[in-house]
Amino acid sequence: MEESEKTPQTEKAAEEKKGGRRTAIVVGGSSGIGRETALRLLAKGFRVFNISRTPFRGERVHTIEADAAQEGELSRAVYAAAEEADGVDLFVYSAGYSMAAPLEYAKSRDYRYLFEVNYFGAVEALRAVAPYLKKRGGRAILVGSLGGGVPIPYDGFYSASKAAIEMLARESDLELRPHGVRVSAILPGGTATDFTYSRRVYSDEESLGYTPSVKKASAALANMEQGGMNPSLVADAIVKLSEKRNPPPVAVAGGKNTVLRYLGKVLPERVTDWAVRRKFNQK
Ligand SMILES: NC(=O)c1ccc[n+]([C@@H]2O[C@H](COP(=O)([O-])OP(=O)(O)OC[C@H]3O[C@@H](n4cnc5c(N)ncnc54)[C@H](OP(=O)(O)O)[C@@H]3O)[C@@H](O)[C@H]2O)c1
Repeated sequence: MEESEKTPQTEKAAEEKKGGRRTAIVVGGSSGIGRETALRLLAKGFRVFNISRTPFRGERVHTIEADAAQEGELSRAVYAAAEEADGVDLFVYSAGYSMAAPLEYAKSRDYRYLFEVNYFGAVEALRAVAPYLKKRGGRAILVGSLGGGVPIPYDGFYSASKAAIEMLARESDLELRPHGVRVSAILPGGTATDFTYSRRVYSDEESLGYTPSVKKASAALANMEQGGMNPSLVADAIVKLSEKRNPPPVAVAGGKNTVLRYLGKVLPERVTDWAVRRKFNQK
């Protein structure tokens, strides 16, 4: 065929003739870990859809804009992508948000928003994509956090939402496995992305008597993130996990993080919490 005769339709038909191109949906693919994952999947020949509020920079990933905190938006976006592709081989939920606020003064709308993005968004999107994953014997990977296994001071809502993500992955894997679909959670530790800068840190007026501790904890967390893994390495771990014949329900990104996770599991809580207090400069 002459180059001038190639249209998106003829290219699509040619792909289908070759056995079809695999399709991936990344929720939260506009930035950080999700963006790096989308780029790796493109390089592996996937057709990649991003779902987020802002578009993917670059032409090869089609963005369907949706706000995870608005009920119904993610499922509509997932249906749009999955119907266009007639099935989904890989689904990655990487959207996430965190805040630094004292429990006593945290506003209900703030912690409910966090749970909408980090947990209920994943539930809604996973429910929407499940029938399309079943068509292809596909995989789902939900991005959790090492922080789901230990309390992060003044970021307890985040830790709770990530613990919930782990349980969502484990339980939905039990349900979907008989239908040929596998679900896993991947747990990164500190990773150098813009996540640090989109955190809502409560001001002195909002934190009142907790201000110095909130500041120390959020500064320590920011250091851990910006001194942590490169998001491209977390993306490598996600792609590797998606290629495993028998993926574990929970996987940790990075060797050091694997050791930390293990210690968090075997040490008594009072020892882990003592280490957390030291790490986050708390009394
Ligand atoms: N960075 C770390 O240290 C770290 C450590 C452990 C786990 N994680 C987890 O890794 C995942 C990715 O984080 P990252 O570090 O790559 O952060 P990031 O660069 O800030 O990316 C976050 C992604 O989530 C999307 N998102 C946020 N709020 C959204 C909303 N309301 N609706 C739709 N999409 C939304 C953002 O897209 P838009 O802004 O375009 O909507 C963006 O694509 C998160 O789940 C995070 O909890 C991060």
